[in-house]
Amino acid sequence: MNTPLPFDSVLRRRLVTATGAFLLASSVTQALAQTRRRATPSQTEGPYYPVAEPKDADYDLLRNGTLAYAKGLAAWVQGVVTDLDGKPLAGGTVEIWQCDEAGHYDHPRDGSRNDPAFQGFGRVLLNVAGEFRFRTIRPAAYTGRTPHIHAKIKVGNRELLTTQLYVQGDPGNARDGIWSRLAPEDRALVTAPFTPVADGVRAQYALAVGA
Ligand SMILES: [Fe+2]
Repeated sequence: MNTPLPFDSVLRRRLVTATGAFLLASSVTQALAQTRRRATPSQTEGPYYPVAEPKDADYDLLRNGTLAYAKGLAAWVQGVVTDLDGKPLAGGTVEIWQCDEAGHYDHPRDGSRNDPAFQGFGRVLLNVAGEFRFRTIRPAAYTGRTPHIHAKIKVGNRELLTTQLYVQGDPGNARDGIWSRLAPEDRALVTAPFTPVADGVRAQYALAVGA
């Protein structure tokens, strides 16, 4: 048999329920605020985006056609691309392009003096989790620039972002006009450590784009 609850118990229950509802609402708001990503800053494309689709444009920049590239420090450059709510960018592609260890791009405006064994450009399709991975070298410096890798994110032919990726702790960063122009919170989004792994070094980037 139910006995009526004393008034103060009823009041306490109501307070507990109200507090619970408030906590639930604030934790939902907090969760939404946490998943809202800061957009990866856009940066100049520069003059060396390929003039024509390269014959070999896969994830492995250390192998161009039948040639293998053994210079520089072999690196995995990987990451995840999401929209601003943290949802993986389904169907998106990531393109990267960078200079060889001697600082030359596969581009006529750079004198076409690049090492033919270095692929210089690659494109991968994001997986369902929005992840990508390239095999390349830790980017090399060239006159006037700190080491960087150019990157473009597309869905189909629609370009969502053009940016550049940097090496955390490289002494050239602070002297680089393009890197140092970024706000500190934006630098953090495009600058990652290249940490030693069994087969070279590895860098991981989390990129977010307005889809
Ligand atoms: Fe560049």
